[in-house]
Amino acid sequence: MATVSATAQDGGISRREFLFYIWGASIALFTLQSTGLLVWFLIPRFREGEFGGRFWITPSDLPEVNAPPANFPNGRFWMVQLDSDQPNDRMELAQDESNRIKGVAAIYTVCTHLGCIYDWVPSNNRFECPCHGSKYRLDGRRIESPAPRDLDRFKIEAYAEDRVTLLGEAELVNDFYEPLELPDGTAFLSIDTGDRRQGLVQRLICDFVGNCP
Ligand code: FES
Repeated sequence: MATVSATAQDGGISRREFLFYIWGASIALFTLQSTGLLVWFLIPRFREGEFGGRFWITPSDLPEVNAPPANFPNGRFWMVQLDSDQPNDRMELAQDESNRIKGVAAIYTVCTHLGCIYDWVPSNNRFECPCHGSKYRLDGRRIESPAPRDLDRFKIEAYAEDRVTLLGEAELVNDFYEPLELPDGTAFLSIDTGDRRQGLVQRLICDFVGNCP
């Protein structure tokens, strides 16, 4: 007590005051941290036009039907427009496919084997991975392994001119996005690179022609 009184008389702070200030500072720090966490949680993690967010394109950005794909490197996707009823060297049904493949798809640019960036090879009319030789058809189905599955796809939505009215969206079948047939009046397409679905595990196309390496 003699010490406290002396301290108070000296104009310093007492032990009790010191503990009070520490306690107050702890509460303030905790409140600041909680607020920061809440703000971090509430703001979108990815912005539009940034990988992990949404990309807007127009139908004029799309390649022709069964033409070589259009690359969108910022979004890490290829856009393809497919119609198996107009077969060519790039797109025709395999022997185990009976349903028409028609519409647009957004394909992730990363190989499903070990994550290399594959490319479209015009002379061979297919996607090819330089790392270990996986090959994929225009719609992303595996032609040759070692890739364990078809290429992944992103969600696509079709919007009217106001970019608010939703006209259609890619359907999920077996948790994988089917190509989207563009509804009449489509003025914009939204590609959601935050919504990626893993490619299917289907038989290799090379199996049907017996030329798998
Ligand atoms: S990473 Fe593409 S084949 Fe291995």
